[in-house]
Amino acid sequence: MCGIIGYVGKNNSVPYIIDGLKKLEYRGYDSAGISILQEGKIVTVRAVGKVAELEKAALQSRPQGNTGLGHTRWATHGKPSEENSHPHRDCSGELVVVHNGIIENYLTLRDKLTQLGHRFRSETDTEVIAHLIEENLKHTRASNDEDKLIKAVQKTNVQIAGAFAIGVMWARTPGMLVGVKTQSPLVVGLGKKENFLASDIPAFLQHTNKALFLDDGEMVILRTDKVTVLDVNGKEKKVKATKISWDQKTAQKGGYAHFMIKEIYDQPQALEDTLRTARTDFAKLLGTDEKTLRKLRNIHIIACGTAYHAGLVGKYYLEQLAGIPTSVDLASEYKYRVIPPFENTLAIAISQSGETADTIGAIKKAQKLGFKTLAICNVLGSTLTRLCNGTFFTHCGPEISVASTKAFTSQITSLFALAVCLGKANGHISDADFNKYTKELTRLPKDMVQTVKMEYDVRHLTRKIYKAERFIFLGRHVNFPIALEGALKLKEVSYRSAEGFAAGEIKHGPISIIAKGTPVFVLMPADSLFEKMLSACQECGARGAYVVAITTREGEKQAKNVAHKVFVVPSTGELLQPVLNVVPLQFLAYWIAKRLGCDIDQPRNLAKSVTVE
Ligand code: F6R
Repeated sequence: MCGIIGYVGKNNSVPYIIDGLKKLEYRGYDSAGISILQEGKIVTVRAVGKVAELEKAALQSRPQGNTGLGHTRWATHGKPSEENSHPHRDCSGELVVVHNGIIENYLTLRDKLTQLGHRFRSETDTEVIAHLIEENLKHTRASNDEDKLIKAVQKTNVQIAGAFAIGVMWARTPGMLVGVKTQSPLVVGLGKKENFLASDIPAFLQHTNKALFLDDGEMVILRTDKVTVLDVNGKEKKVKATKISWDQKTAQKGGYAHFMIKEIYDQPQALEDTLRTARTDFAKLLGTDEKTLRKLRNIHIIACGTAYHAGLVGKYYLEQLAGIPTSVDLASEYKYRVIPPFENTLAIAISQSGETADTIGAIKKAQKLGFKTLAICNVLGSTLTRLCNGTFFTHCGPEISVASTKAFTSQITSLFALAVCLGKANGHISDADFNKYTKELTRLPKDMVQTVKMEYDVRHLTRKIYKAERFIFLGRHVNFPIALEGALKLKEVSYRSAEGFAAGEIKHGPISIIAKGTPVFVLMPADSLFEKMLSACQECGARGAYVVAITTREGEKQAKNVAHKVFVVPSTGELLQPVLNVVPLQFLAYWIAKRLGCDIDQPRNLAKSVTVE
């Protein structure tokens, strides 16, 4: 939630910051602002709405300077308004702060600072940081202004509690920015005679692919040609730069109208890239050995939203292919349930961003319980990957659209690869089965190339149904989570009411909401459960539903007898089929939202990375 960016270098910082904010807009888009250090004075421009509004405002006032900060906001404390937009300033107007996260003790700090005479202008928790640094500066002795600012920020860093990534700029220290990080993402981009501070890599990827990742409690000082990291004790720390392999084309729309549709089409490549590393040594990845892997008795999957749906599919894989009892929890629930102590348990956190606060909280709990931890994650250097014993990276490239698509199919694929490896290690699957599953995996990107060709047909259908008020999705077994995902995708981007059910459950209640013309999407590949799904179609059709069957070639003929419309998805193995089945539902959500004129990449009220609990 919220994106921050800082630039210090030889050029005018404004275009770098505005461009970086556009790349970070997926993190929040209800207001935005920049502060530039111009001839010894801080000039701030802020605007309600998207970065485009800020850009218009900045074009009018034309600030210029080599040092600057920017912010795009997803409101937590205080409504979206200009006063509540970042950067926030101290009383003197000489110091500004941008912040991503939540300051939990801000009310206490605000009271104290108000008593000391500080005047607050906004309703945000962030503003206390600016005033607190100002107060600390008054009581800090140092030989020069740069050291003084560093010491004052260090002091502030221990006084504030919560989750925060902060950027600080002071008019008296031109050519310098200070950043601190605790439980919210903050990455440094290392350029040539210019350096960046940002919530995420795409913000600076166009200018450099060299990044430094910070640990919680650390501080970074950026100058034009030097970056210094201080550890929690304030000691200088050597941090190795990481080369980012994402190419910047994947971080751009590449001719598509929206990131969502581009990312749906990215899926063959995303699967190919993810699978390139899927034949990994999972034992090594977890810092353990094959023997310990064989002893695994329990798996806890933890995730939120779409990643949770991937986890639900993963449960079937891990139980069927590796024979290991697996539970799947919403991260926000896992944190609060009593978990009996189990030996030989592995907790797997699934997260595209690696910064989801609930998932991070849940994995910390798993660690306290003594479980080994594995992240399935898309972002190198993210908090989750740094916390877990090992990480299996999905190599999707940056996923910018708020609605997750390519990360989801890559997560399921990774879980399948993991289950196959575990099953081989513990002897649950035979060598012949191992080879069969490996072949299916290898063929999957090609199957995906065929699957994305369905866009035209799905688009055509949406013309007929896009005005419906309610949509239903049905699936069984591995396709049940796909029904949930289809419904989530649709509500997220089109704001329509949509629900996913296990097909066997509808007669226990949900069938009552089916009325004449209600579109019902039935996931029914021609597999061992096909007959049951034919009955589900009939049950819904008999109540007046407009039934759309999603099946494979072998099921087409029979599906036509019970559905008004049939989509044929290429077939793969029964277990991997959900990876392909979700694609028409992704197109469906996209096209319904498009026809309804919704803001597809940035749906109302949402943010890509939910870094608050
Ligand atoms: C839905 C969506 C969200 C995320 C969820 C977890 O399209 O994107 O439901 O899946 O917020 O985010 P990550 O995977 O970053 O932990």
